[in-house]
Amino acid sequence: MRQSSLVVVANRLPIDDNLALDGACEWRRSPGGLVSALHPLLRHTPATWVGWAGGTGPAPTLPDVDGVRMRAVPLDQDDLRDHYEGFANATLWPLYHDAVEQPQHHRRWWEAYQRVNQRFAETTAEVAEPGSVVWVQDYHLHLVPGLLRALRPDLRIGFFLHVPFPPPELFMQLPRRAELLRGMLGADLVGFQRAQAAHNFAQLVTKVLGLPATDRRIGIDDRVVRIGAFPVSIDTAEMAALAARPEVAARARRLRQDLGSPEHVILSVDRMDYTKGIEQRLKAYSELLVSGHVKVRDTVLVQVAVPSRERVGQYQILRERVEREVGRINGEFGRVGEPAIHYLTQPFDRAELAALYRVADVMAVTPLRDGMNLVAKEYVAARVDDAGALLLSEFAGTAAELSQAYLVNPHDLEGLKQGLLAALHAAPADVTERMRAMRAHLHRHDIRAWARSYLTALDQSGALVDRLTSTGDDSPVLPSQPDRSAARAERRTGR
Ligand code: ADP
Ligand code: F6P
Repeated sequence: MRQSSLVVVANRLPIDDNLALDGACEWRRSPGGLVSALHPLLRHTPATWVGWAGGTGPAPTLPDVDGVRMRAVPLDQDDLRDHYEGFANATLWPLYHDAVEQPQHHRRWWEAYQRVNQRFAETTAEVAEPGSVVWVQDYHLHLVPGLLRALRPDLRIGFFLHVPFPPPELFMQLPRRAELLRGMLGADLVGFQRAQAAHNFAQLVTKVLGLPATDRRIGIDDRVVRIGAFPVSIDTAEMAALAARPEVAARARRLRQDLGSPEHVILSVDRMDYTKGIEQRLKAYSELLVSGHVKVRDTVLVQVAVPSRERVGQYQILRERVEREVGRINGEFGRVGEPAIHYLTQPFDRAELAALYRVADVMAVTPLRDGMNLVAKEYVAARVDDAGALLLSEFAGTAAELSQAYLVNPHDLEGLKQGLLAALHAAPADVTERMRAMRAHLHRHDIRAWARSYLTALDQSGALVDRLTSTGDDSPVLPSQPDRSAARAERRTGR
């Protein structure tokens, strides 16, 4: 069996099954921030990605993708329901996002979480060559670092949390809080998006486990676990190059015409998730229509909301509510051929996303809570013309970096409306100045800078870092996403 020197372990593989028009199974890039962040990095080193391929049943054998070996971990129906949809996305996800929805606790879910984490750890232990660096990702796999260390003490293990890590008063609600913290402490380095999250973690390990901790180091047994903030980013140059292509610029012009050549285009691109503040945004927009501050003839809202975690009750309820509200607003304010909201639930390929970003005069990214939010960064990277206003929630991790955005508190409806109007009517010179500053920031703090800072802290030999973060041929390696057929939506179980 081929072994490799870097192993990424994430719940999802960067590809998932797609039903082609002729009914054959094909593999496509999966959406979501984690894949967008990691996928561009692995082109330069022998690496293996351990993850779930998106269905149930035996693990499929997958082709290498641009030299990156794909190793699928199987999930059965019970695992899917109790680990992915249950403990990961109905206990941890809401709890970690300020409990904006009520976290649920079931003992069966915890059993599944342990079982699936064990399976990921065992698979990783099999594929990692001696002394490899293993990089475990996100909240689905909190126990993997500890389990893996027990199986393979020779490995250098990193853990990175892409989502917020909550303050002690929320985390303490978890019945199995001590086990989760111990699992993470199996790593040599625990990385978070923000310094506040590292601080929360340090406080918790002292409070729950009685361990000595600062915001940088934690002592456990005879080891030191380092912790820190490493804000994730995007492949800024790739998005900028894509957005600068003549055909993308032409597509953006065409989109504007198709939208009725309005004065203002507002765009939002989200997974359909209650953390993203979609309902609050629609309410703000609707009230601006009612008050006449926004008129459908001059301004259109394009809301892309790709369905996510579709079998989880809270997500089903959200989708119904969003669609009812979009229908109501369109019914009340739209005209024939002029809807107030263009509502799209399809996945788009990267070029189409880039064209959408280029057509958006205002990009509204207003989550109630978000670990980072890569859509905001993609928008900035795509604005090679230095135009476009970013309306950004204070509660997105991105806000700590993109302070030149028009910042809003999405819980404050009046503030949200004022922010939207301010972004819509901002002076072009102000918009340009802000966008330039944000683009300069992202140019320096791109995905390679993120990987470099994290992996330098993890693998002090530096060899892996140099390979991973070197710039080489950056041509896209994964097939981009086509519009997916209804048949595929029926087949999918995981979203
Ligand atoms: P999250 O990780 O919560 O999904 P992020 O904003 O960090 O949120 O990342 C979302 C990623 O998914 C971005 O890279 C974005 O381009 C991608 N994405 C979102 N919606 C779509 C869509 N409709 N089609 C294709 N990619 C999408
Ligand atoms: O950022 C959080 C996250 O769970 C990522 O791990 C993933 O990229 C994204 O949200 C999409 O979620 P899911 O894998 O559940 O579709």
